[in-house]
Amino acid sequence: MSEEQHPILNQLEQIQQDALAVLETAVDEAGITAWRSAHLGRTSPVMTVFSQMGQFPKELRPLVGQRANQVKLALEAALAEQAERVRQAELAQKLAAETLDVTLPGRPQTLGRLHPITQTLREIYRVMGEMGFQVYRARDVETDDYNFTLLNIPPHHPARDMWDTYYMTTPGMVLRTHTSPGQIRAMREYAPDPIRVILPGMCYRYEQVSARSEIQFNQVELLAVGKGITFGDLKGTLTDFARRMFGQNVRTRLRPSYFPFTEPSAEMDVECFVCGGKGCQVCKSSGWLEILGCGMVHPKVLENGGYDPREFTGFAAGMGPERITMLRHRIDDIRYFWSDDVRFLEQF
Ligand code: PHE
Repeated sequence: MSEEQHPILNQLEQIQQDALAVLETAVDEAGITAWRSAHLGRTSPVMTVFSQMGQFPKELRPLVGQRANQVKLALEAALAEQAERVRQAELAQKLAAETLDVTLPGRPQTLGRLHPITQTLREIYRVMGEMGFQVYRARDVETDDYNFTLLNIPPHHPARDMWDTYYMTTPGMVLRTHTSPGQIRAMREYAPDPIRVILPGMCYRYEQVSARSEIQFNQVELLAVGKGITFGDLKGTLTDFARRMFGQNVRTRLRPSYFPFTEPSAEMDVECFVCGGKGCQVCKSSGWLEILGCGMVHPKVLENGGYDPREFTGFAAGMGPERITMLRHRIDDIRYFWSDDVRFLEQF
């Protein structure tokens, strides 16, 4: 039998062709691994030729060994090439999937913002702080005594009709209708020392909700108690406050009024900043906007707070941040503040 005719040599040729044909179907890492063990592994056709060398005629073995080695090297080279192709393809695919267009505009961050009432409150704190007033927090749930009686509004007195009150199921307890009960709390804590405080907080009134009134709203109370405090101090402090809050040139006026816990009592107006005093819808053609109630602390109230009214005097004022905010931003309905409508809130 001649060397060329020995079937093992054709078989080796066939082994190489078969293996290379299948290699093209290995298109991912798992396929490459499977092909390697099937065609170059210990039990693969080409490796079996090596391990069964003893079956061939002695003089043929060097040639068979040489050819088998060539097949093995050819398969290894083809494998390396295919593995590299797979690696490149997978990389390209990954890059395409993760494409980042750095020229696209970024996603805007949505920013929270302060509620317009909070903004007004903080401005009041700042202005009054500059004038030496400290924030004093009192409670929302009050006793009837603090909310009324100690403020010179006895039970059954018609003045109670000034406030429509939420009474708690617990007798003698109410939701405060104004921040004035905080006056008594501050006085009882500080007496006989002088006081300069502002009392901000939520107030509650059992009223029909409308564009002009809510059942819950903020007030900021001002209180100064000391020796020799006069109505001039009240006027000076409030005028200064209005100028710092609404502008240095704003005009103000005091009108006589009535509150049971102040004597004398007044209300302060600022010149309408919409029309400059000429008269418009916002000021109802009067040229003035009412922004707060005030007065000299009633002697009975000083006494209830622990101060001797023959020695001490004081002034108090109460303003509504909602009303001030509405005037400044020309908001025509108080209900927006509690509406939770971001389109409203985003304007501030
Ligand atoms: N407490 C009064 C009100 O709610 C306002 C006020 C406060 C008036 C302090 C005078 C002095 O109407």
